Amino acid sequence: MHPDIERVLIARYEIQDRVKILGAEISKNYSGREILAVGVLKGSVVFLADLLRVLTVPVELDFIAVSSYGASSTSSGVVRIIKDLDRVVTGREVLLVEDIVDTGLTLKYLAEHIRAQKPAGFKVCALLDKPSRRSVPVEINYLGFAIEDEFVVGYGLDYAGRYRNLPDVCVLRRDVREGK
Ligand code: IMP
Repeated sequence: MHPDIERVLIARYEIQDRVKILGAEISKNYSGREILAVGVLKGSVVFLADLLRVLTVPVELDFIAVSSYGASSTSSGVVRIIKDLDRVVTGREVLLVEDIVDTGLTLKYLAEHIRAQKPAGFKVCALLDKPSRRSVPVEINYLGFAIEDEFVVGYGLDYAGRYRNLPDVCVLRRDVREGK
């Protein structure tokens, strides 16, 4: 195990099992329709790559990148789009794919941004949710796992740009996060 990791929270095989179930559910619900999957960069890419390969309906792919103002590892609520969608979403069945929903501020902003472009449908799929941290109500239609209020890295999630390559969802050691 990586020395900066306190423990594995969700092991890779548990993630794969859950992703298969989510993929089956999404494929069933979108039967006969085409999805425009929108990955939120960069945290969602590992999850999205696995999810795409278990979908059996036609999928087009796009990405959006956001950054919160401020340097803290928690969302400030002020979200800035640093890469917007390439595709026109009007009339499309948009499935927004997020790594983790924390306060909900990022998701609320993105949902409003995309809904304003009048997609035929708008749904959210998130790998992780920290419901105890929510400050604004948001709807998650497809969820991998609800977790406690712990800072996690791996399987795409980062701290200061690192640990995205770890194959499991792991709890980062507190002293690493606090820079001790
Ligand atoms: P929100 O706007 O507070 O919901 O924050 C969502 C974003 O914060 C996520 O997309 C992540 O980039 C980041 N984030 C929140 N919690 C964690 C965590 O435990 N590990 C890594 N990133 C996190």
